[in-house]
Amino acid sequence: MLARLLAAAVLAAAFPGAALAQDARRGADLAQTCLACHGDNGRSQIEDIPSLAGQPTDFITLQMILFREGIRRVPVMNQFAADIPDRDIEDLAAYFDGLRPGPPDDRRPRDADLYAAGQALIGPRHCATCHVPDFGGRAQIPRIAAQREEFLARSMVEYREGRRAGADTQMNGAVVGLSDPDIAAIAHYLAQQD
Ligand code: HEC
Ligand code: HEC
Repeated sequence: MLARLLAAAVLAAAFPGAALAQDARRGADLAQTCLACHGDNGRSQIEDIPSLAGQPTDFITLQMILFREGIRRVPVMNQFAADIPDRDIEDLAAYFDGLRPGPPDDRRPRDADLYAAGQALIGPRHCATCHVPDFGGRAQIPRIAAQREEFLARSMVEYREGRRAGADTQMNGAVVGLSDPDIAAIAHYLAQQD
């Protein structure tokens, strides 16, 4: 059952637009309920809630399906995604993809030592191979540049500990063996990107 749902989710993300044209303007109307948490311009100003501005359409689509099917378990998002039609997901995704990404207003100033430590860890782990060199993401791989720092850190801890389910296990492999301080440094480095 799980395998079938995941296959459907991956297919939906791989061929977004194949069946339905995305309508970002319709997405903007639907998104009114999302902005209270994810930020007026798609940049979250609330701790532990990720920014969505500039996230690739396929990534948002896939994550909404994972929430809807209860595979990625976050009660508040499972509730918002429950019974949401595919068309609404596609339009919401197109809307958020089209917003200009950027850091939250409360981004903390750069800590040079932490930044350098994060940079040194990221190269050998080939994060940029998937997340692309400016960490803007592509297709089902998320933008991680300028994301909220505490959200980035928590996500990596959850992947490391097998607590966040994605469509595959690529991220569990990418963070294996990283200590909490390593993760804090990487999160700081990524949050400082624009
Ligand atoms: C009450 C607050 C709240 C509302 C309203 C809300 N969300 Fe969320 N959303 C969250 C939280 C919290 C998370 C972080 C989940 C986690 O802990 O991993 C999240 C995560 C997400 C993610 C995953 C992003 C990522 O980078 O992993 C997407 C996509 C998303 N929400 C889309 C939406 C959409 C679309 C709506 C409106 C239909 C919406 N959300 C409404 C709180 C909210
Ligand atoms: C083999 C490709 C690949 C590599 C290498 C990789 N990632 Fe990822 N990453 C992904 C995919 C795919 C996802 C979405 C997975 C899911 O569905 O949860 C993701 C998700 C994430 C997220 C969650 C972001 C969000 O908004 O929910 C973070 C943070 C992240 N990656 C950071 C990293 C870091 C840091 C590295 C290097 C240590 C890395 N990734 C290496 C493919 C990769």
